[in-house]
Amino acid sequence: MKQHIHRTIEPKQLNKRLISALFLLLLITVGSSASPTHWQKRVREPCKKLVLYFHDIIYNGHNAKNATSAIVGAPSWGNKTILAGQNHFGDVVVFDDPITLDNNLHSPPVGRAQGFYIYDKKEIFTSWFAFSFVFNSTQHKGSINFAGADPLMNKTRDISVIGGTGDFFMTRGVATLSTDAFEGEVYFRLRVDMNLYECW
Ligand SMILES: *[C@@H]1O[C@H](CO)[C@@H](O)[C@H](O)[C@H]1NC(C)=O
Ligand SMILES: *[C@@H]1O[C@H](CO)[C@@H](O)[C@H](O)[C@H]1NC(C)=O
Ligand SMILES: *[C@@H]1O[C@H](CO)[C@@H](O)[C@H](O)[C@H]1NC(C)=O
Ligand SMILES: *[C@@H]1O[C@H](CO)[C@@H](O)[C@H](O)[C@H]1NC(C)=O
Repeated sequence: MKQHIHRTIEPKQLNKRLISALFLLLLITVGSSASPTHWQKRVREPCKKLVLYFHDIIYNGHNAKNATSAIVGAPSWGNKTILAGQNHFGDVVVFDDPITLDNNLHSPPVGRAQGFYIYDKKEIFTSWFAFSFVFNSTQHKGSINFAGADPLMNKTRDISVIGGTGDFFMTRGVATLSTDAFEGEVYFRLRVDMNLYECW
């Protein structure tokens, strides 16, 4: 009976079966060899860690000379000199802040943190950040780009590292922000703990 079935299979059909069997084998080998590398990529070990600080001196009407940030947009119930009421909701602040290796504002900067933050909730203090670390020092050259929500009353907040250039070509990861100092509404210092999971 078995032999009979075999005999009835035409050579063309056999070829087709052989090809599909080979194709299946190929798929299995490709699949099994791809999965370990896929798995390795998902292991949550940073390829680079970096801790930096940046310092934001907000213009308050009297410090135009050393202010490093300015309110550029305010809701109609506010103005661009003083952050608005209701947890600053609606304010847009542009900054060009020095980045330092330690928490001292007067340490030699290794780059500038440039971008903006917006206050985006009336009920609590929370903001949204989009900025770059732009490096031009012997330690680092290039840039790292960041974006994400900054619920600034939390001790730590995670934002995304969405890319980079130069020494940080194509990097990605997570940056943990913490407020290292906060002086009135004129100065704050953020500690940025970067865990990069893609390094080239
Ligand atoms: C800005 O400069 C003024 C005048 O030099 C100084 O009193 C003030 O402390 C400076 N602010 C910061 C945050 O360094
Ligand atoms: C901005 O608003 C603050 C608080 O409402 C007020 O004290 C200040 O005079 C205003 N400044 C300007 C230039 O309108
Ligand atoms: C980087 O620093 C070098 C040396 O100080 C300077 O010549 C160059 O203009 C700087 N580049 C930028 C983009 O600031
Ligand atoms: C901020 O803190 C609150 C309360 O502690 C917590 O529920 C929330 O998940 C935190 N948010 C972030 C983004 O960490």
